[in-house]
Parts: sequence; structure tokens; C-alpha cells
Amino acid sequence: MSEALALPSYRDQAPGVAERFARLKERPVILDVRNLTKTFEGGSGPVVALDRISFQAHRREFLCVIGPSGCGKSTLARIIAGLDTPTGGQMLLDGKTIDGPGPDRGMVFQSYTLFPWLTVRRNIMFGPEVSRGLSDSSAEAEAREWIDLVGLSRFADSYPHQLSGGMKQRVAIARALANRPRILLMDEPFGALDAQTRAQMQSYLLQIWKQVDITIVFITHDLDEAVYLADRVLVLDAHPGRVREMMEVPVPRPRTRDQFVSPAFIAARQHLEELIHPPGLTENETLPLGRMTLVGDDVE
Ligand SMILES: Nc1ncnc2c1ncn2[C@@H]1O[C@H](COP(=O)(O)OP(=O)(O)OP(=O)(O)O)[C@@H](O)[C@H]1O
Ligand SMILES: [Mg+2]
Repeated sequence: MSEALALPSYRDQAPGVAERFARLKERPVILDVRNLTKTFEGGSGPVVALDRISFQAHRREFLCVIGPSGCGKSTLARIIAGLDTPTGGQMLLDGKTIDGPGPDRGMVFQSYTLFPWLTVRRNIMFGPEVSRGLSDSSAEAEAREWIDLVGLSRFADSYPHQLSGGMKQRVAIARALANRPRILLMDEPFGALDAQTRAQMQSYLLQIWKQVDITIVFITHDLDEAVYLADRVLVLDAHPGRVREMMEVPVPRPRTRDQFVSPAFIAARQHLEELIHPPGLTENETLPLGRMTLVGDDVE
């Protein structure tokens, strides 16, 4: 990028950023990840997926995690959720070491994971009944509240195959939250949705987050999505997966899509772009297409 187009530091683009983040860090630490390491034994030697990852997420923080493909984002989410074990390091939730899965952590994946044989209502009641031991009527009353919160009252008795992708993910969010977790882990939850539905889901998620005492760790490939949603963005490097930077998003809340063209948004996005794609790196990568002769000389 030429000097003329270069924007000043993303931190200078909105007033009060330092004060806002000082206040955020005064809130209790909900998730404390310390030197988390994960090595996989692959066919061609060990793969260090995560190399001494440390970060903290505060109460009611919206933390996004970005990084190149293969940098260990899903591995990180799975380990925090207790679905996989680390090779080293420690994790604390509300100050207590976590070891294995628990209802204090909810998870939403990109793929649809609802029980296809249960209605929306029964999908959401499942956690309160099984994990929290609520009676059928209490679980149903609670499910109704979550269904209302995600705006699906008319679909309470529908089955997952009768819902659109965006609606399925709203049920998945409600189902995860119905367990009353302390943190919600979301691994590219909107990655399979079309652009319009995705934008709508981002807005729904911000509205839901405002209503619930929940800390969100949200993994995404999409830099706009990260800047739009997050308080802070944890940027990871690949091979080995390491913390590159914890970026404070200067864009004020409440967030609106108009802010996509604000100086603070553009500067934050550009900063992430530079971290993920250092200049001159990808431009030099070309595919070995020299021997292909699929296009005739007469075709432009
Ligand atoms: N079960 C496994 N066995 C061996 N290697 C694994 C396993 N799971 C992940 N890996 C390796 O660990 C690294 C991190 O994988 P991971 O899926 O966490 O990356 P990611 O950041 O989520 O990627 P993407 O953005 O493509 O989803 C990769 O190099 C991957 O090949
Ligand atoms: Mg992944």
C-alpha cells in the first residue's frame, strides 16, 4: 500500500478506547488459558498445533479468534470445551482448573448438530433435563424463554429439517445457552451460511449476547465478522500455532453495519489484514499451471 493511502494506527481512530479496555480488564477473568500446548502425532512426525497459548477472557467479553487455516483454532476450541486434551499448560474457568467437558462450557459448531429426531423445543429441553436435572415442565418453561429469545416461537414444534440454516444455528445457540454455561465457544458457526443470512446472524448474536451474562469465544476466518462482533481479537500464527497479538477493537458499541465504513472499522480491519497476510507473502505464491492447455488461443 502506498504512503498516501496508509491509515494511522487503528488505536487512534476512536476516542476513549484506552478507558474502555481498562474497564473491560477490571471485570473478573472467566477463562484463563496458560501456556496451552497441543502436539499431534502425525504420519510424518509430530505437529505442534498449539504452542504455549496464553490469554484471558473477561466476564461478558466477546472475544474473536482468527488465524490462518491450520493454526489450531478448532483445536483450541475443542480443548477448552474438554473434547480434546492438551499436551501441556493449564486452563481455568472462574479460577478453577478445567479438566474434561462440563455444562459450564457451551459449544456451537459450523456443521448442524441438532438432534434430527427431536423438535426445536425438545432439542433445547435436552440440556436442562439431562445436565441440570430439571423436570419436564420446568425444562419446557425454560426452553420457551430461549426459543423466544432467538425469535423462533412459531417453530417450537418444527423438526430441524424443516428449518433454514440460519434458524438451525439459532436453535443451536439457544440449546447451548439453555445449559447456562459460563462461556459459549463458537467455531465458525456462520461459515456455512450465505452472506445475507450470515450478516443477519451476526446481528442476532450481538442482540442475544446483550441479554445474557455470557462470555463468548468466537472463531472465524472473516476479518469483517471479527471486527463487527468482538471486543478483542486474538490473532494466531500457524505452524506452530502461537499468539501473534491480542487486538483491542476500537469500534464503539452498539455496533451497526454502517460502521463498516467508519475510519475505526477500516483501520482495525486493515491491521488484522496485515497481521494475517503480511505484505509480499501471498502475492509471490503462484500455482504451477504452466503446462495447462485448457484454453484455446482464440479465447481471452
Ligand atoms: N486429530 C488430529 N490429528 C493430527 N493432526 C491434527 C488433528 N487435528 C488437527 N490436527 C493438525 O493440527 C493443526 C491445527 O488444526 P485445526 O483444525 O485446529 O486448525 P484450524 O485453525 O481450525 O484450521 P481451519 O481454519 O482450516 O479450520 C493442523 O496442522 C492439523 O493438521
Ligand atoms: Mg477449524
